Amino acid sequence: MIPDHSNKTLAQLLDLSGRRAVVTGGAKGIGAQTARRLAEAGADVVVADLDLSAATMTATDIANATGRTIVAAFIDVGDTSSIVAAADAAMSRLGGIDIWVNNAGIYPTTGPAIEATDEFIDRMLSINVRGSFAGAREAAKRMKSGVIINLASIAGLSATAGISAYVMSKHAVIGMTKVLSREFAPLDIRVVAVAPGPIDTPGVQDQLAPLKAAGVDVGAMLSKTPLGRGGVPDDIARAIVFLASDMAAWVNAETLVVDAGSLAR
Ligand SMILES: NC(=O)c1ccc[n+]([C@@H]2O[C@H](COP(=O)([O-])OP(=O)(O)OC[C@H]3O[C@@H](n4cnc5c(N)ncnc54)[C@H](O)[C@@H]3O)[C@@H](O)[C@H]2O)c1
Repeated sequence: MIPDHSNKTLAQLLDLSGRRAVVTGGAKGIGAQTARRLAEAGADVVVADLDLSAATMTATDIANATGRTIVAAFIDVGDTSSIVAAADAAMSRLGGIDIWVNNAGIYPTTGPAIEATDEFIDRMLSINVRGSFAGAREAAKRMKSGVIINLASIAGLSATAGISAYVMSKHAVIGMTKVLSREFAPLDIRVVAVAPGPIDTPGVQDQLAPLKAAGVDVGAMLSKTPLGRGGVPDDIARAIVFLASDMAAWVNAETLVVDAGSLAR
């Protein structure tokens, strides 16, 4: 079913011309840089975000830089009807969906698990887990073939105390990636995930604000990796372009850890 690409050049394999992509949480951080790199590789992109004005600014920037068709759309991945609406918008504005990136996610600190409320857990799981599942399902319903890429985390492969809800949500995303890869393979849809280490984004800066206020050198903290520097959104965006492209035509169900080797034991 998946064709052999042995006769294509590397440039042809990385070329996403003619592909239509949706990036959730595409206004800022990893999502914005992913949308930019997908467009640079030739894709038309829907930048879908809770923050429509930021999505519109990002979409305009990317369109000006790449000349691709870039559409801003509202999405709240905690609300399935809005996921359906964004998927329908991609179908009508771009003519189809070939790449769906489940990037939108939240990571408020849980605090001690013994004090975590059901409401807090429900909110985390509804956005990070159900939102990704519903995104994958609605994308698969509309795709003729393609790839779904989920944003997991090294928190989905390890256990950091104090962020239990996030850890649970990202473990679930990795399990979801495996099972959906089985279910969607007959539809010619690959399902893969990326597990980033800490990446300097607006969301991470928000989380680190209390530490910064307490005088902690957050920059030094983030740069403590085996490669001696912290991660930036483009480190993840490049991995996503690889997974979205025919370079990764035989990569399926896998979670690619992109963390400078920090998780290695
Ligand atoms: N930054 C990291 O260190 C890191 C590490 C591992 C995994 N991740 C994962 O990568 C993804 C992106 O992280 P980031 O750091 O770029 O985030 P960020 O907080 O910097 O940006 C997230 C974007 O998603 C949007 N968003 C938030 N809730 C939404 C919702 N309900 N529906 C639609 N859009 C919503 C925000 O408006 C924002 O534009 C997340 O899934 C996160 O868990 C991030």
